[in-house]
Amino acid sequence: MSTAKLNVDGQEYELPVVVGSEGEVGVDISRFRAASKAVTLDPGFGNTGSGQSAITFIDGEKGILRYRGYPIEQLAQNARFVDVCYLLIYGELPNKDELDKFRQELTYHTLIHEDMKKFFEGYPPTAHPMAILSSMVASLATYYPELSEDENDLNIVRLLAKAKTIAAYAYKKSIGQPFMYPSNDLSYCSNFLHMMFAVPTEEYVVSDVMEDALNTLLILHADHEQNCSTLTVRTVGSSQANLFASLAAGICALWGPLHGGANQKVLEMLEMIRQDGGDYKKYVDMAKDKNSDFRLMGFGHRVYKNFDPRATILRNTVDKVLAQMGTNDPLLDIAKHLEQVALSDEYFVERKLYPNVDFYSGILYRAMGIPTNMFTVMFALGRLPGWIAHWKEQRDNPAGRINRPRQIYTGPTERNFVPLEQR
Ligand code: SDX
Repeated sequence: MSTAKLNVDGQEYELPVVVGSEGEVGVDISRFRAASKAVTLDPGFGNTGSGQSAITFIDGEKGILRYRGYPIEQLAQNARFVDVCYLLIYGELPNKDELDKFRQELTYHTLIHEDMKKFFEGYPPTAHPMAILSSMVASLATYYPELSEDENDLNIVRLLAKAKTIAAYAYKKSIGQPFMYPSNDLSYCSNFLHMMFAVPTEEYVVSDVMEDALNTLLILHADHEQNCSTLTVRTVGSSQANLFASLAAGICALWGPLHGGANQKVLEMLEMIRQDGGDYKKYVDMAKDKNSDFRLMGFGHRVYKNFDPRATILRNTVDKVLAQMGTNDPLLDIAKHLEQVALSDEYFVERKLYPNVDFYSGILYRAMGIPTNMFTVMFALGRLPGWIAHWKEQRDNPAGRINRPRQIYTGPTERNFVPLEQR
């Protein structure tokens, strides 16, 4: 193993180097402070590895995304979301027996306790569904306390199965319609769509187009290595907090408009451009103006500096689904014009700002009849297996340590207390 050398005030420190299975090089500084009393600084952690993981590989320069070695393009084309859940969490694609058993367990655990339905009576109709999802997921710990390590697999199934029920109930709550119970005859995606759009007064059949579109969307969102919300899940899990508490924290982190909340902001931005006569060039100029805090939502990425492969897949899926559904969405035209203008503009090219996964996902959700304030919930449903896989990978690591970074203090140096009458 090669080493790295760091010189601090003339003193040289030799640091071990870790090389990953894809040739990535990590300088191990875990002993650096003990030797030098100095720490490294990296606000936003853009240059810092939080650990080693075998779940997802991203090459931002080449636009590569693989789950446990499988390219995202192949999984989006050939797999079902339940396959990908199993792959991310347990490391291998399931064989037929494993898949049948996993599917059966997910179906069996889709109902939430009848008493949990009463929680919804306390939320106002205007409650954002992300607030409901995060609090209801944390509340699952009140029904399913963590008793032993082998309970984790059962709670993993419970969470994957019940989160989509909670999401659908949050939507029904917001439109004042009765909750629809899950059906044991439906697939994971169809069950969710049925709970979302069926009503007791008439039969609702989930179309293949809708089921396939949701399946693709959930697979594309399933994991993305050490992003903000996954790091949050790993940090909360590093204190040995239970699965539900750790995942609820990840849901909250995803809610932010710079992260998973961007898909809702993209649609609001496109709608704003449409209301403003479709003048997308004006908004590109605003995004470039340093005096404006406006950002082109759905553009840019910390890791992808050429293209987000998920955006490429979604861009093609949107055209196909809208054609199959006979929908013509003017916001899609605005989105494509915005993309063309931005990608030829020096400001975006120079900063390597390309459409990310959130840029097109909202157009698809909208075409499927999912309301804008549910978009980030959809992102969370997709990301569940990734969060769970990272939580489990960390929990299963006997050498795992609690996340506790250091800092550089910049506040006042020591001073004496001043009594009130002297302030
Ligand atoms: C997701 O990490 C993940 O993997 C996340 C995710 C996942 O799957 O988990 O991929 C999902 O969160 C996708 C990103 C969704 N967010 C958005 O679409 C919000 C809009 N984009 C950004 O705010 C921004 O691009 C980030 C947050 C995505 C990345 O931020 P960085 O890496 O911290 O980059 P930065 O803010 O330092 O920007 C670098 C420069 C700055 O300009 P200068 O100071 O160099 O002049 O680029 C500019 C920024 O002002 N910039 C933008 C911009 N994004 C960055 N300018 C206009 N519009 C934008 N969208």
